[in-house]
Amino acid sequence: MRIDILTVLPELLDSPFGHSIIKRAQAKGVVDVCVHNIRDYATDKHRRVDDYSFGGDAGMVLKIDPIFALMEKLKAERTYDDVIFLTPDGERYNQRIANQLSLQKNIILLCGHYKGVDHRVRERLITRELSVGDYVLTGGELAAAVVVDSVVRLLPDAISNETSALSDSFQDNLLSAPVYTRPAEFNGWKVPEVLLSGNFREIAKWQEEQALERTARLRPDLLDRRCE
Ligand code: ADE
Repeated sequence: MRIDILTVLPELLDSPFGHSIIKRAQAKGVVDVCVHNIRDYATDKHRRVDDYSFGGDAGMVLKIDPIFALMEKLKAERTYDDVIFLTPDGERYNQRIANQLSLQKNIILLCGHYKGVDHRVRERLITRELSVGDYVLTGGELAAAVVVDSVVRLLPDAISNETSALSDSFQDNLLSAPVYTRPAEFNGWKVPEVLLSGNFREIAKWQEEQALERTARLRPDLLDRRCE
């Protein structure tokens, strides 16, 4: 899979992609994450990427021309399944969308900034708009990092034990059962007996009960979506 990220602040993405699973997945060739600086495609002498909004609303708006030039260059090189804009007014991102995106071959993620982006970008160049939650971030970069992280861990061979991504919370619209490790007793606080029993049927039954109980208590809304 290839993910192209278009941003005016590429430095913000150095750290999230330079470590752990994403770094290893890139090294293994499972994914190619390419971060592009929109400013490199600005053509005026000041290399402006933003401008005042028509109509006089306060705040700067990202210009269409550098974004268009960068997207045209990328689209000439390969076909993209989706061109996604990260924005607080987009469709709410969730595990189902992460699963969908993980099946795609090439996607573009455009990070918004300032007051927004020239609306013609959204009307003409974007195929999908995603929000990572009902709060406003300074820009779309951290939202893009959330999308990339959650998608890459689903790719075959990104995680050594593939089943661990499949048993994530939310994968089945169920929260995960609690997990424990050694010591079996700490400060008098004991690990549930069943987990030490070696009886795998009993353990699986306990895990399922726990998952259902935690979901009903903490996220009852997920149970309504279990057949989605
Ligand atoms: N950009 C700013 N806030 C955002 C959010 N909540 N989701 C996606 N992109 C954003």
